[in-house]
Amino acid sequence: MTPRLVEPEWLDELPADDPAAIRSRRDLRRVNAWMQHSCIIARLLEASFRERSPRLIVEVGAGDGSLMLALARRLAPRWKQVKVLLVDRCHVVSHETVAEFERLEWPLETVRADIFDWLAKPFDGEADVMMANLFLHHFHPERLKMLLGQASERSGLFLACEPRRSGVAMAGSRLLGLIGCNAVSRHDAVVSVRAGFTGRELSGAWPKDNGWDVQEGPAGLFSHYFLARKTI
Ligand SMILES: C[S@@+](CC[C@H](N)C(=O)[O-])C[C@H]1O[C@@H](n2cnc3c(N)ncnc32)[C@H](O)[C@@H]1O
Repeated sequence: MTPRLVEPEWLDELPADDPAAIRSRRDLRRVNAWMQHSCIIARLLEASFRERSPRLIVEVGAGDGSLMLALARRLAPRWKQVKVLLVDRCHVVSHETVAEFERLEWPLETVRADIFDWLAKPFDGEADVMMANLFLHHFHPERLKMLLGQASERSGLFLACEPRRSGVAMAGSRLLGLIGCNAVSRHDAVVSVRAGFTGRELSGAWPKDNGWDVQEGPAGLFSHYFLARKTI
């Protein structure tokens, strides 16, 4: 497999209210559904919390919150009153999404911040879960290592679902036009796969500390998961 290549994504460079950006965020919902990320993440979370539900889930780089909402819809029948904190540098969570979290009785807070600024700030307690979906691949190795190091200080479990750097995922990313995705989404999908992960790359960027149980591998056809769980 070719080495990881991190290049700018168009969605990150467009103003949040640009019609092409709005459309691309809508495409992302379809892409997440296609990649079955809420299903993959729900399974990993349920396997990690057998005895009790988490009290606080933080999503970093959460975008418009629709992935977390899909997750909440799956889990709310069994997990009650889970507090959710969505962090993103764009404020793009709709009133409809906020209302839907209210209906599910999962208290929601949104924070608009660059993730490095937010992680550097003092934080009361720790999140039971910190998660990232289609986010970690944005970062060059040094920044990624810094992000994971800071995340490990603020969470008891860290979970990520990212593009897998594989031939199948590359082929899938080139077909997004067929499901009606716009030029921004089609460009960013290919760039995301080149910046995606394989092997034990995320474990290698996680702090070397034996207080964590770390798993990583393929998920579904196009994705790569990483899960780190505090053991002490
Ligand atoms: C590909 S989107 C994924 C959004 C969401 N997780 C999803 O699956 O729909 C990546 C998100 O990361 C956000 N982002 C990129 N760099 C960031 C940073 N340094 N700090 C906070 N958010 C950032 C972007 O605004 C965008 O919403």
